[in-house]
Amino acid sequence: MSLRGTRRATKQSQNFWEIASGKVRPRNDMVKTMTTNPILTVKDLNVVFPDSNGGLHALEDISFEVCPRDFICFLGPSGSGKTTLLRILAGLLKPTNGEVNFIGNQHPGVGMVFQQPNLMPWRSVMDNIKLPLELEGISETDARIKAQEMIELVGLRGFEDSWPRELSGGMAQRVGIARALIHDPDLLLLDEPFGSLDAITRERMWMELSRIWQAKQKTVIMVTHSINESLFLADRVLVLTQRPGKIKFDLKVDLPRPRNDDIRYTPHFGKLARKLRETIE
Ligand SMILES: Nc1ncnc2c1ncn2[C@@H]1O[C@H](COP(=O)(O)OP(=O)(O)OP(=O)(O)O)[C@@H](O)[C@H]1O
Ligand SMILES: [Mg+2]
Repeated sequence: MSLRGTRRATKQSQNFWEIASGKVRPRNDMVKTMTTNPILTVKDLNVVFPDSNGGLHALEDISFEVCPRDFICFLGPSGSGKTTLLRILAGLLKPTNGEVNFIGNQHPGVGMVFQQPNLMPWRSVMDNIKLPLELEGISETDARIKAQEMIELVGLRGFEDSWPRELSGGMAQRVGIARALIHDPDLLLLDEPFGSLDAITRERMWMELSRIWQAKQKTVIMVTHSINESLFLADRVLVLTQRPGKIKFDLKVDLPRPRNDDIRYTPHFGKLARKLRETIE
């Protein structure tokens, strides 16, 4: 495996990543490469966890590419290796073999949101959101300004001083998203972020996430069990098999954007949902 590159990138590669993420405009001589180059290439990735039975094969021959500002959903049964894949992309786990290459050979800044928001109960909303900046040693004033910006973005104005126990599930998850976005990551990894929410709140969160994704122009890789969720949000849905997880289907979601609730009742949405349903069964 080669999880190539470090956070300390060369000037050239850093520029390239920033361009790929849409933060700065490309130089003319870079435009051609930019339009043809994915920002992340995963090739023949395998993960085997050691056990007493000769190893548990979690992921098998996973290959895919991600372009700047893509919204990609992974859909798959429980145990198909979705979280394992996100952990590899976040740099938290090394694959047994295969390649994970980021553009410019540097690991991007990553924000991760988990199924449970994992907030610190003794810290207010504001203090939970600014925690990553505190850990980076950013000054209190700057951290507060940035955290307030994130609070506005996720629609939590007025709840700055609330405690996690006072929040609804959807609000707590917004805090998790704000915290993941605060250090302006290039890549946002979402692991079933709305799995614990009721259906109505969950659908409201799709709209929120869609709006945030469009406003912040992030590259997003999200794991979900929900066909409707993946179609509402993603540009592409990759379906995994039962363990060991292999990619069995790659669906381009050619629904117009911005998407609102009505799109779920269109014949085309129904057709795509049926395709995914047939693949999963
Ligand atoms: N650190 C680990 N050590 C050993 N086995 C692991 C480890 N992490 C995951 N596994 C195993 O790898 C397989 C894939 O796990 P993973 O958590 O990635 O699945 P998942 O698709 O995210 O499932 P779910 O939808 O239930 O969250 C499972 O069989 C799990 O038991
Ligand atoms: Mg999981």
